[in-house]
Amino acid sequence: MANNKRVSLNLNVRGIGKSPTLAINELSKQLEHEGRHIYRMGLGQSPFPVPLPVVETLRNHAHEKDYLNVNGLENLREAVAHFHHTKDNVDIQARNVLIGPGSKELMFLLQLVYYGEIILPTPCWVSYAPQAKIIGRNIKYIHTSYENNWDLTPDQLEAFLDTEHDQYKPRVLVLNYPSNPCGISHSVHDLKAIANIARKYEMIVLSDEIYGQLHFKGQHVSIARYYPEGTIISSGLSKWCGAGGWRLGTFAFPDAFDWLMEPMAAVASETYTSVSAPIQYAAVTAFMGGIVIERYLWHVRRILSHLGTSCTEILRQAGLRVKMPDGAFYLFLDFSPCSEKLRQKGVTDSTTLCEKLLEQAGVAILPGVAFLRPPAELTARLAYVNFDGSQALAKSETIPLNGAIPTDMHESCCDPVFNAVNKIAEWVND
Ligand SMILES: Cc1ncc(COP(=O)(O)O)c(C=O)c1O
Repeated sequence: MANNKRVSLNLNVRGIGKSPTLAINELSKQLEHEGRHIYRMGLGQSPFPVPLPVVETLRNHAHEKDYLNVNGLENLREAVAHFHHTKDNVDIQARNVLIGPGSKELMFLLQLVYYGEIILPTPCWVSYAPQAKIIGRNIKYIHTSYENNWDLTPDQLEAFLDTEHDQYKPRVLVLNYPSNPCGISHSVHDLKAIANIARKYEMIVLSDEIYGQLHFKGQHVSIARYYPEGTIISSGLSKWCGAGGWRLGTFAFPDAFDWLMEPMAAVASETYTSVSAPIQYAAVTAFMGGIVIERYLWHVRRILSHLGTSCTEILRQAGLRVKMPDGAFYLFLDFSPCSEKLRQKGVTDSTTLCEKLLEQAGVAILPGVAFLRPPAELTARLAYVNFDGSQALAKSETIPLNGAIPTDMHESCCDPVFNAVNKIAEWVND
């Protein structure tokens, strides 16, 4: 019977584990069970509370119980269009916005509906490739490098397309900036050049801008500015609004993309029907913004920028290669300068690196292989979010807007982050 069950599984899902973070989570739990203190820096969840006006709107709409339009609440689609217009200077029509239960689900629908190949620059977020595999789409990887800021360069993209047999077959190029796992954004120069290449080869760009509002300087630039006719902007409430568990994501399509959006909505109507009504009402407040939300974002960015910069400096001093992040809350650590010391600890790949770091130093981070890097590359992602975001916000509000964050912020709010980073630094040089 057990065998029958296995052979009746869809071929595309055979061998798919729950997620690459599972092994680290299991080991963390086991060690905690044994009484060890574990610094959990694996999960990429915003530590900040949802802004108050957004929570209040949710409270006021708790009674909304009807199914909504599958494409999303009209006011919300308008608010998202307004958001991209004011924040990104991109002209989006409300009728071209699709609301989903998280941007992850919308990406899945896109891959299901669009019969094309996926181009993934690596390192990249953990779910793009499994989604493509589940659906049975072909994936092409372009490995970026530390030297190039872990960014896809226009030359690399051209070189890749040059070697392709059919240069004009349907493709989706996935870009994510500021990025998970590196916290890095593309330069405007590169965005323009990539936009020109995408136009030349008639590629769809899926621009995953879920961390756009967490650009530390508030200077996120969307590629849709340079390739409006072929870019889908993906966003949502999960990161900048601290509401991952609310499950609300958005896709903003170019004009004349009904041929793609409407089939996605049709599949949505046969699967999840529509996104939770109260959450959609609350999201209107979030996307319309205003002074309270702007202040919230300003403090969030200042705190994250301070943490990202300080952690990078500590880790660089310990001998690691780390790029200074532009936004989000991740650092992609390259331990290769310490490879000899690590070899003596029995570490020659990223999975063992993270297992030993967890067992010996009590710090949980995720191996580079989970982000589609070669298994033997000594890289890993650290998420610097294991602190009390409400407390950090309250503290930041007491510091003048033009002032730097004082070092006692470390002790008062963000102790676990610095303890963990110092532990990594000690462990690697031990
Ligand atoms: C790069 C990136 N894209 C998309 C998502 C999915 O976000 P959500 O489905 O919560 O909108 C995440 C979540 O971690 C992410 O890191």
